Amino acid sequence: MNINPSLIGLGLFFAIAQAPVFAAVVPGHDGSATEGRAFAIQACGACHAVIPGQRPRNPPVAAAPDFKAVANAKTTSAIGLHAFLVTPHQTMPNIILSDDAREDVIAYILSLRSKK
Ligand code: HEC
Repeated sequence: MNINPSLIGLGLFFAIAQAPVFAAVVPGHDGSATEGRAFAIQACGACHAVIPGQRPRNPPVAAAPDFKAVANAKTTSAIGLHAFLVTPHQTMPNIILSDDAREDVIAYILSLRSKK
């Protein structure tokens, strides 16, 4: 699964640049992975494999990484995901999520992380 390195760099850049802001925002609301899963199937499932092993419903031209791969990427963190989901990106549409939906989706993605 290809994860665009420049994107990770961008995510890290924002994570670092905005760290104080996110530090204030992220711990405030613990997202619900269960709600995030249901939401992500609807909102993200056209392009991303939201459930491990399942195919996206309607993959666009550019391949969207499956959420399990995102969860297991070394650079993935709640703050990085937060940064990604509140900043513009090239190929993924800029979906506007409510704060709650965003934190739920982040909780769900991180719940896919393989236990070591
Ligand atoms: C129309 C297709 C589409 C939809 C809908 C979509 N995405 Fe994406 N997403 C992409 C594509 C394509 C990429 C890879 C290119 C990029 O990052 O811009 C991507 C990348 C990502 C990444 C970065 C992965 C990484 O670390 O490189 C995350 C996180 C993500 N999407 C989350 C979501 C979430 C959460 C939703 C639902 C709220 C969603 N996406 C909905 C197409 C989509």
